[in-house]
Parts: sequence; structure tokens; C-alpha cells
Amino acid sequence: MTRGFPPPLSVAPMMDRTDTHFRWVLRQITGHTLLYTEMVTTGALLRGPRDRLLEYEPEEHPIAIQLGGDDPGALAECAAIAEEAGFDEVNLNVGCPSNRVQSGSFGAALMARPAHVATCVAAMRAACAIPVTVKHRIGIDDMDDYEHMRRFVDIVADAGCDRFTVHARKAWLQGLSPKQNRTIPPLRHDEVWRLKRQRPQLSVEINGGITSLDEAARHLRHVDAVMIGRAAWDDPWMLHDADARFFEPAAGTAVTREEVVRRAAARAAARLADGRSDRLGPMARPLLNLFAGRPGARRWRRFLSEHAFQPGADAQVLLDALTVMNATSRRESA
Ligand SMILES: Cc1cc2nc3c(=O)[nH]c(=O)nc-3n(C[C@H](O)[C@H](O)[C@H](O)COP(=O)(O)O)c2cc1C
Repeated sequence: MTRGFPPPLSVAPMMDRTDTHFRWVLRQITGHTLLYTEMVTTGALLRGPRDRLLEYEPEEHPIAIQLGGDDPGALAECAAIAEEAGFDEVNLNVGCPSNRVQSGSFGAALMARPAHVATCVAAMRAACAIPVTVKHRIGIDDMDDYEHMRRFVDIVADAGCDRFTVHARKAWLQGLSPKQNRTIPPLRHDEVWRLKRQRPQLSVEINGGITSLDEAARHLRHVDAVMIGRAAWDDPWMLHDADARFFEPAAGTAVTREEVVRRAAARAAARLADGRSDRLGPMARPLLNLFAGRPGARRWRRFLSEHAFQPGADAQVLLDALTVMNATSRRESA
């Protein structure tokens, strides 16, 4: 199955996870899956360490940047910056329920202000030529019926939104932590399917609780695309069939997990040598779950946890962890 934009599969924006190091690891596993940055607030991008916030490696394409903000002018400026920096898509966060985000009245709180979101999207569209997309919830608080979501989508679609990614559960803005808001409100996948049925001309991506490519394939019978979040962190290798199943085989992806590690070690050595990285830890962290479910996985994780985060740790630690894991799994299977 081959499809163009929007790609049928993506890995979700996740704060403190989908940094350049995790995205690079994912890209060794799947050549075409769309990868998202962590959310970057407009304030940080306009006034903070811009180069660091925009950092990615050329092979991370296709890559989308997610913005957090509610000021149309600032969002437009950031969309132009994102395009200039080479991102393939710019996404607006209308789903994050954290207190910090609400106090800026953006994130999920924007679900209550569809006309304002439309203004933001229109401003972003006018400022750049790359797709402008929105990631949102089914609803918030007591504003959570299907009709409310459809109205939100209709209003924002009129502003030219290129895709709607729906996290298929509502968010409680008061009383639940962001983590609880990703587990306690029940999943309502059927309402996302219904949205696509009723608005077939819109591009609709489903997100929330999807943990395998088989499940993704089932959803793709009803919607245009599937976004996977936590499952990709918990077991990145789950994506290794994604190209063959949903796109076309990609040149250059790793054939085994060991190969991913050897490439990661070469990358880490180069970055530590030329000063782009000053510690191994952030580059090792997205590898912790690479062997999830395989014999020796616990030994791998433990070795990395004990050694990769030490001051002065170098890339050899990754290769040593492979050796130790393989010795353990040989002993276990003997
Ligand atoms: C650690 C973590 C950080 C997250 N950060 C963001 C974020 O920055 N922006 C966003 O829109 N969603 C964020 N999310 C929500 C995910 O993008 C996704 O919508 C959610 O985890 C549900 O998908 P899943 O069940 O496949 O994980 C985050 C989720 C996690 C677990």
C-alpha cells in the first residue's frame, strides 16, 4: 500500500521523548513513518534557544514540528520559521491538558474556542506553504459530545487545516494529571471513524491506545492515518514492518536491532567527538526498550542504565551492552 500526504502512519509528539535522538532511532527502523517533535511553545521558539529547539538530522524526514501557543501572530511567525528550518509539516497542539499549558490557555483548552483555533490555523496557513495540521481531543470537561467535536472540526477545516489528528478520549482539565488524562477517560475510537464517515473530504488521523501494526491496519479501514505514541517508546522495534505494510520498502533501514545499535554507536561516537553531544545518556535513552520482549532485554536495559548515564561514558558502552546481552541470552537458552 502506498499513499502520499498525509502519511498513513506517524509517531506522536511526546515531551521529553521525541527528541532528535529518539527520532533518529525510529528512522533506522522505519523510513517513511511521519515523526513528530516534542511540543515547542511559540514563546520558547521566538525568545529561547531556537537552534536547539529546531535541531534534527537530515534523515529524520518526513518530520513535523508541533507548536504550542494561542497567539495567531506568534504561531504564524513560528510556522514560517518551521518551514524555513525544513520541517515537512507544522502541527498545532489542541490536546495537551497540563496545567502549565492551560495557564497559557492553549493546548486542550482551545477545544472550547474553535473560532480562535480557526484564526490561528488561517494565520499559520498564510505564513507558510507546508501542511498545517491540528492535534486535538474528542472533547474537554462537559463539552465532550460528538457534535461538539464535529462542530470544532468543521470550523477549523474552513480555515484550511490539512489534517485532524484526534486523540480519541476527552480530557478533564481540572482534577486529572496529564498522565491520568491519557488513561482514565475511555477511548472512543468509533467517534473518530464516524467523523471520517461524515466528513470524507477531510483527512482524519486516529490516535490513542493503538499498540500494534495489526491494530493500525484495522483502523486504516476507517480513517486516513494512525498515530502511535507510547507503544513506539515502549517497543520501537514494533515499527519495523511499517514501511512494507503501509508505504513501500525504504532503502537504508536497519534489518536487525543489533544493526540499529551499531549505527547508534557510530553516531554517538561522531557526535561526542565533534562536540554536537556532550553526554552519551540522551542518545542511549531511546535505545533502552529496543529489545523489548526479546531474551536478554532486561540485561540490556540494566547494563545501559548502569553505564550509559555515567559521566564520561562513551559509545563503546552501547556495543558492550550488546555483548553482555547476547552472552546472557545464550546462557538462558543453553
Ligand atoms: C510522555 C508523553 C508526552 C507527551 N507529550 C505530548 C506533546 O508534547 N504534545 C501532544 O500533542 N501530545 C503529547 N502526548 C500525548 C501523545 O501525543 C498521544 O496523544 C497520547 O499518548 C495517546 O496516544 P498513545 O496511546 O498511542 O500513547 C504525550 C504523551 C506522553 C506519554
